[in-house]
Amino acid sequence: MASSSIIKTIPLMAIPNFNVCHKLELLKEEGKSGDPKHQEGEGEGEGEEEEVQSYEFQEMLESLPKERGWRTRYLYLFQGFWCQSKEIQAIMSFQKHFKSLQNDVVLATIPKSGTTWLKALTFTVLNRHRFDPVSSTTDHPLLTSNPHDLVPFFEYKLYENGDVPDLSGLASPRTFATHVPFGSLKDSIEEPGVKVVYFCRNPFDTFISSWHYINNIKSEAVSPVSLEEGFDLYCRGVIGFGPFWEHMLGYWKESLRTPEKVLFLRYEDLKQDMESNLKKLASFLDVPFTEEEDQKGVVHSISDLCSFENLKKLEVNKSSKSIKNFENRHLFRKGEVSDWVNYLSPPQAERLSALVDDKLGGYGLTFRYN
Ligand code: A3P
Repeated sequence: MASSSIIKTIPLMAIPNFNVCHKLELLKEEGKSGDPKHQEGEGEGEGEEEEVQSYEFQEMLESLPKERGWRTRYLYLFQGFWCQSKEIQAIMSFQKHFKSLQNDVVLATIPKSGTTWLKALTFTVLNRHRFDPVSSTTDHPLLTSNPHDLVPFFEYKLYENGDVPDLSGLASPRTFATHVPFGSLKDSIEEPGVKVVYFCRNPFDTFISSWHYINNIKSEAVSPVSLEEGFDLYCRGVIGFGPFWEHMLGYWKESLRTPEKVLFLRYEDLKQDMESNLKKLASFLDVPFTEEEDQKGVVHSISDLCSFENLKKLEVNKSSKSIKNFENRHLFRKGEVSDWVNYLSPPQAERLSALVDDKLGGYGLTFRYN
């Protein structure tokens, strides 16, 4: 692959235990370097596909089934899931080069399931002794960094463009994120002690959230996806990293098979009962809350710090860009359960409901819609 030999040094921002003093220095260096990968206008819409890649890669791409994309011209069926050409390039590099270490933490989601929220919560839980969520009202990293800068995606920040990042300086536990389905992740996380947290959201709200987000961030060069067209693609499984049912099932089954390795959490459960779910998360990550922390209100403080209302109002989440060129503000829309009722017609709701029953009903994977 054209750029697979590039060794990329990743920003300290992405290190869970990064030293805040180093952060600014590092950002300055980034700014100075003028890395073309991080400049305005890169990575959006059709250009995203056309910029790519070697003859071999193009040939491989041509051999894959393809469908109309949501924000790029095409989605390709790669390793059994749908994704964009640039994502394929990054995933191939990740699969080839990433070496897991004991204690690595991987946060997995299908897009628009609450990834940003899970990143914020996990970062805060894992780093609470360094960055006190109770007393740090002004200097907690989450107040000045978007969660996507604190927990990087394999297939975007780290292995983007087929890069090979230098991860040797990362503090333990290294914390990463991915949208890749379990089947395409499992060989990369075989090291004992690697933990995966999967965050699942009901497919109705996930669809509506995806539809809004993609139409907000897509380039002008790609025609908008109407609700009807998007819904049909979604129900046929054609959405980034979908079909959604296979994505959910892959992690669901693995969480039942190896509960010490994969924790399956639900967006709606966290909305309803943050405390017990946050405790579950902390225990799973081997950093359970102590009684003393409980009394000090640590769980409550983490919940408040990472709440939709708090994150949405922060300047960094109103005006900056953390994933590619997409404005952070689009990551915080409504943050509610069951907003889908405002968009889907009764026949559409029936169709999706039947699909969910058909694909997931037999596996005990159920959802709450209010
Ligand atoms: P809506 O579009 O329904 O509002 P992702 O982070 O995977 O991109 O998912 C985005 C969805 O999560 C959006 O849903 C967004 O508003 C919601 N979200 C973002 N931060 C959240 C938070 N702290 N708490 C709850 N929901 C949040």
